[in-house]
Amino acid sequence: MYKLVRPIFFAQKPERAHAFFQSLGSLLARSPFKSLIKFFYDFEDSRLHVEALGMSFKNPIGLAAGFDKHAKLSEFLPALGFGFTEIGSVSARPAEGNPKPRLFRLPEDRALINRMGLNNEGAEVIAHRINGQHLEIPLGINIVKTNDSLIMGADAISDFCASFQTLYQLSSFMVINISCPNTADGKTFEDPVTLDSLLRALRAAETKFTMRKPTLIKLSPDVSEEVLDQILVVTKKHHISGYVVMNTSVARAGLKTSDATLESMGKGGLSGEPIKTWAVELVSYIYKKLDKPFIIGCGGVSSAEDAYDLIKAGATLVELYTGLIYEGPGLVKQINKGLVQLLQRDGYKTIQEAVGTYKPEP
Ligand SMILES: Cc1cc2nc3c(=O)[nH]c(=O)nc-3n(C[C@H](O)[C@H](O)[C@H](O)COP(=O)(O)O)c2cc1C
Repeated sequence: MYKLVRPIFFAQKPERAHAFFQSLGSLLARSPFKSLIKFFYDFEDSRLHVEALGMSFKNPIGLAAGFDKHAKLSEFLPALGFGFTEIGSVSARPAEGNPKPRLFRLPEDRALINRMGLNNEGAEVIAHRINGQHLEIPLGINIVKTNDSLIMGADAISDFCASFQTLYQLSSFMVINISCPNTADGKTFEDPVTLDSLLRALRAAETKFTMRKPTLIKLSPDVSEEVLDQILVVTKKHHISGYVVMNTSVARAGLKTSDATLESMGKGGLSGEPIKTWAVELVSYIYKKLDKPFIIGCGGVSSAEDAYDLIKAGATLVELYTGLIYEGPGLVKQINKGLVQLLQRDGYKTIQEAVGTYKPEP
């Protein structure tokens, strides 16, 4: 079905098509059609249940940050079969993001390039929206420093703390985005010393809440192994609950899309099929390095096999974004059904048994 409507979607500019889907989704969320959509797209199987971060996930497949930046779809997404969703990135203050065009399709590579620049309505507006919602699945809230390069140093940390405090209690888990490649200062907190100060401030901000929420760090594939190791040391010191691995990449290696087309698109983060291998490698590296931490794997997932590869590499949960653009809303059910078959094939009783079981060929 999606294969038939995809050409109509793809005839629209990517951001316009996205806005259309968003309006449709939020309309359907409060209509009787939601149950019908759920009937077609949802998939239940107890072998997919995951207990993690002190909560239950009905399946391991979630929506990655950036798709539902403003939490307008949180009530609709369970109908598409997701086990959880992550909204954002949300910043303390509203931000317009970069000038358009800032989102590009690479159909030959089944990929996207974006330099959205952290456009969002700001923590207060989004907190207000979530407050009025009935949430059926765990909600991750991804926060980021406001995209304004005048906010620096101690002010940048206060800015992060402000969105953290506004949104913390509304979340099932928080994700700290330190790896946005699309703003001048989006990666400032990848510096281990700055990250140490940020995490200390967030831990202090957290003490005022009686009910503690897990806090994860979203990592980039574009840091050197040396810096990554330092980031892991700092995050471990601050008892971070886990990692979202990974964000988009500035790399362009191995793409089928011509150099001229890539040049015309300009800068931005690459997502989708070409980054899948990097995501599996990074998940595997961190899983081994930190002795089985909690990881949400993300990057290039568009089939059950892709999700399974991330799980076997060490991811307890998996997120996707770009796959949904190319495969359509039936993808989540397709992945969950496929995962059950892969578990049966490999003799696992539950999806949790498969986590971290990847063994490289001798
Ligand atoms: C258009 C677009 C916007 C994104 N915005 C965000 C964002 O605001 N915050 C964030 O942490 N990640 C953002 N991401 C990154 C995704 O969450 C994800 O890490 C990345 O796309 C890799 O997954 P995928 O290959 O399944 O798309 C964005 C990705 C895309 C394509």
